[in-house]
Amino acid sequence: MSYARRTLFLATLACVLYAALALPPCARDDEDCRESRMHPDLPDLPQGRILPRKIDGDDTNDYWRNQGKEFIQTKMAQKLNTQKAKNVILFLGDGMGLTTHSAARNLIGGEEQYLSFEKFSYTGLSKTYAVDIIVPDSANTATAYLCGVKAMEGTIGVSAQVERDDCAAILNTTNHVYSIAKWAMDAGKSAGVVTTTRITHASPAGVYAHTADRDWEDDTEVDTWCGANSGVPDIAYQLINGEVGSKLSFMMGGGKRHFIDSKLYANGTRSDGLDLIDQYKKLSDRNAFVESRTELNNLNFSNVDRVLGIFSDSHLQYHLETDENSRQPTLEEMTRKAIEFLSRNEEGYFIFIEGGRIDTAHHDNMARLALDEVVELSKAVNAARELTSEEDTLIVATADHSHAFSYSGYPYRGNDIFGRTPATPLDKKPLMTLSYANGPSFEKFYDVTNKERRDPTTLVTGDVHDQFPATAPFDSETHGGDDVAVFASGPWAHLFTGVYEQNTIPHMMAYASCLSDGLTVCSTA
Ligand SMILES: *[C@@H]1O[C@H](CO)[C@@H](O)[C@H](O)[C@H]1NC(C)=O
Ligand SMILES: *[C@@H]1O[C@H](CO)[C@@H](O)[C@H](O)[C@H]1NC(C)=O
Ligand SMILES: *[C@@H]1O[C@H](CO)[C@@H](O)[C@H](O)[C@H]1NC(C)=O
Ligand SMILES: [Zn+2]
Repeated sequence: MSYARRTLFLATLACVLYAALALPPCARDDEDCRESRMHPDLPDLPQGRILPRKIDGDDTNDYWRNQGKEFIQTKMAQKLNTQKAKNVILFLGDGMGLTTHSAARNLIGGEEQYLSFEKFSYTGLSKTYAVDIIVPDSANTATAYLCGVKAMEGTIGVSAQVERDDCAAILNTTNHVYSIAKWAMDAGKSAGVVTTTRITHASPAGVYAHTADRDWEDDTEVDTWCGANSGVPDIAYQLINGEVGSKLSFMMGGGKRHFIDSKLYANGTRSDGLDLIDQYKKLSDRNAFVESRTELNNLNFSNVDRVLGIFSDSHLQYHLETDENSRQPTLEEMTRKAIEFLSRNEEGYFIFIEGGRIDTAHHDNMARLALDEVVELSKAVNAARELTSEEDTLIVATADHSHAFSYSGYPYRGNDIFGRTPATPLDKKPLMTLSYANGPSFEKFYDVTNKERRDPTTLVTGDVHDQFPATAPFDSETHGGDDVAVFASGPWAHLFTGVYEQNTIPHMMAYASCLSDGLTVCSTA
């Protein structure tokens, strides 16, 4: 058979098989039929009910009873750690909702596996809404989990008195709020920020910036909104010259374009004639700047006081788009370097480390990239826990918000998470296990002319940039409003249990580390 004929034959066969798997629709008034569909008796897939990764013994009572006993024993052996946290590391998976990290377990061996942070002893849920909107963005959430107060959507490092794009209110410093990085530095500790996005992007900006709009990453953007000579400093400027940014000792990410004037650097987007990277270098000959993984690896830390690493014009590439010879370091490599560098301070450190591209991948409905970035974050957290002591280093891993990301359809154990499900919709075309409530993939998966879904299995090809189906068209998939998990390990990790407002997180980290956060309590008070 020719390739074309074979493809046609297989497609026809698949349609016949899917049609056979699909059940006839229930009659509208047949309650019993509809109830039976709530939890259907699942048909075998064309390849059967295969369980290639089934754990030996997990079909016995002993396996699950022992598993239960072991968990209790682990809990009983656990001692509350009420030491003062010398170091605090905050990991953030941007957009890493519960469905996202649950689904990512499939990539590290199966549903029975745990991501590194899922093994932490204490877990809680963080309520992520903003002062003005229910489903939040990464700007107001950064203000919450770094500065300790909830704020308006799109704003960073300011109180809720500042609305998005309010150029007058941002100039009133009474409205500014500071992050735990400043609280730590005020106590003589070092602080740093590491991300896989532009370092001027919303989450990392929460460490050091005050802005009425997350998009004000350079002066050109500020001028568009506030007019020329408004005196409103942009985010890149604040990293190099701001009260907090200018004191950070370890900074890594992308976003070179926002630091340099377009006349000085072809991809630069500034228009004020500045080269902020050059400014930073000229401040001190102990200010190191690196632009590649090789330069980072060759850097001798004993000769420098501060490190700035900018590895791309915009965001760093997705991990799946890179290879061994990549110019950019991995999140784990940056994490190792950050801890090595900041550990030199006897007083300790605070560092914020973000896996920032989980979010951008979801916005494009690219679930393969999103879940792989979760695995990369897991590796970085694992390295941090290995390099530090649970006795004196509190590690918290969480997300800023969720996504409109669905994990459904009763797939069998051992199934590829990126595959189809045995539950077949009424249109007799397959359902993918992973899908989105909205996003740019809608038109690819929905035939608008014929008003029908296309077979998604013919459109998910195995490419790293595969999109997954969205049920409403959007240029960019939206965030989700469900709570996100908080995982904690180390001193006072037990504070992080329960369901609480997201802005509580930095206060708990401050309590554990005995930092002044404007509240009076402290672990040694
Ligand atoms: C600055 O902000 C504070 C707090 O929102 C407010 O009370 C004060 O009136 C503002 N000052 C000016 C000059 O607008
Ligand atoms: C500018 O951006 C283009 C497109 O992303 C890229 O190919 C080029 O290498 C960049 N130029 C410099 C000097 O980095
Ligand atoms: C780093 O620099 C210090 C001080 O100049 C020097 O003693 C040390 O040998 C250097 N380390 C490496 C690996 O080059
Ligand atoms: Zn987002």
